[in-house]
Amino acid sequence: MSLFKKVISRCQSIYFQGALYVKGKRGLPAQTKEDIELFKNIFENFTDKEIRIFEWGSGMSTIYYAEYLRRKNMKFQWHSIDNNKTWHEIVKGKVNTKGLQSNVQLHLREFLPFWEKPQWNWKSLPPPRDVFSPESENEKEYVNFPRVLDEKFDIIIVDARFRRRCLKTAKDFLTPEGVVILHDAQKKQYHCELDSYRYSKFFKTGAWYPLQETPNKIWVGSMENESILNALKNFSHIKK
Ligand SMILES: C[S@@+](CC[C@H](N)C(=O)[O-])C[C@H]1O[C@@H](n2cnc3c(N)ncnc32)[C@H](O)[C@@H]1O
Repeated sequence: MSLFKKVISRCQSIYFQGALYVKGKRGLPAQTKEDIELFKNIFENFTDKEIRIFEWGSGMSTIYYAEYLRRKNMKFQWHSIDNNKTWHEIVKGKVNTKGLQSNVQLHLREFLPFWEKPQWNWKSLPPPRDVFSPESENEKEYVNFPRVLDEKFDIIIVDARFRRRCLKTAKDFLTPEGVVILHDAQKKQYHCELDSYRYSKFFKTGAWYPLQETPNKIWVGSMENESILNALKNFSHIKK
């Protein structure tokens, strides 16, 4: 990589970290504003019943959207799982402070992210598939957590560790109208699992930093609900 490219890449990384920090301080999810609008649009397609939501990757998204749904007087139950105990406790503190305990259940299955494992090598991105497959009981339970809960969900959000595995689990735990939302769907390493969904669509959702080469994307998939994907086509901020 040329020196110029290295400097640009370093500046982008600093910009990204700064943007993430500011969003966290403002109580916003680690998402672009287009991501946020798309998420809200999806939630609003489920107004006539209690919405059941499952999320891999707890965070400001859990708090922000739970407060949004409460403000809109929508009935919902939100289950969210994380692998990082410190982070789980921080999010739990926020759930309690905001009085969301009756709507939000946080779960924890603790394990190290792949970049903290001894096999990790910064030079090989994306991480090789077989080296970082779920192995420990906690990793396997995390990936299979909807099975542990033994429930079906209207919205399943995939936004953390083992995304391909989570996508594989998710399709068996959708209600007939249910959808799966994959965040950071621009990353090609997640794509091999997407074809197993009957209906699906990618949405471009802006950029995190100036001169970002690949735009952010969200993928929405469903086994039976084609109409929600058609409804989202009209979402004004989405370029096809
Ligand atoms: C990409 S983040 C997304 C979290 C959430 N869905 C959101 O949008 O706010 C995924 C993972 O990063 C980790 N994480 C996020 N922020 C963290 C922080 N400030 N400290 C430690 N871990 C963090 C958590 O383990 C989480 O599962």
